Amino acid sequence: MSGLVDRLRASGCVFAEKELALIRRRFPTYAQRWAAVERRCAGAPLELVVGEAEFAGVCVTVARGVFIPRPRAALLVALADQITAPTSASTSMVALDLGCGTGAIAAALKVRHPQWQVHACDIDPDALRCARSNGARFGFAVHRSDWLEELPTSLTGQLDLILAHLPYVPTGNVPLLPRDYRAVEPASTVDGGPDGLDPWRQVARDCARWLSPTGVLLTQVTGSQAAAALAVGEGAGLAARAVEYDDTVAIAVTA
Ligand SMILES: C[S@@+](CC[C@H](N)C(=O)[O-])C[C@H]1O[C@@H](n2cnc3c(N)ncnc32)[C@H](O)[C@@H]1O
Repeated sequence: MSGLVDRLRASGCVFAEKELALIRRRFPTYAQRWAAVERRCAGAPLELVVGEAEFAGVCVTVARGVFIPRPRAALLVALADQITAPTSASTSMVALDLGCGTGAIAAALKVRHPQWQVHACDIDPDALRCARSNGARFGFAVHRSDWLEELPTSLTGQLDLILAHLPYVPTGNVPLLPRDYRAVEPASTVDGGPDGLDPWRQVARDCARWLSPTGVLLTQVTGSQAAAALAVGEGAGLAARAVEYDDTVAIAVTA
């Protein structure tokens, strides 16, 4: 096995032992493991090599062409835990993972709160296919929708929680993102327009209609975008506040 570790390390994998442990768990034969290591060394993200990603305590299926869940977005799940803690133990809430990709956020919510009605939506066909397979495993519903515009009308005014990990990278910064991920994820999963906030503008404009009277939407941006993102929320007539976590800021809005 040390040959495989050495091969990973030589190609620049800092956590070679940890990566090999995941590859060994997924692939039973040496030939399969060798092929997986070669894919990894050629630049494929580890999650695509092993076909799954860990996110906020759950393991979801991933697919080429679909945004690979990043640990940073677990901030939204952690904040949702805090916000809903007083009521969530006994109450059945209705939640939406907006722009769901694999549906990792929806899966994390469903595992934490099996009694909740959890929905996920995306516009991309590959993401929808992947999210549906995770939805069948974890028990959440998946809808095709251009942001909030095409959700089932039965959800109007019903959403107690919207977690929106939107594309928020300014177009000019997209080429600076890690090359391995850029090679396998469409730009539409990360590119938020000139200042990174175009998707947020659209979602902020529409969300009051979908939130329940006590509903909350959480989205995340970088520290340098926080003031503008808050202004977008307030400009849309929402009550908005920012919660800082290192260089990531979550924006919480209510109608
Ligand atoms: C940053 S990714 C987040 C994915 C997932 N929530 C996660 O955290 O792993 C943004 C997602 O928004 C989706 N998206 C982009 N434009 C959209 C639109 N107009 N309507 C719905 N979803 C969209 C992308 O396909 C992508 O899956």
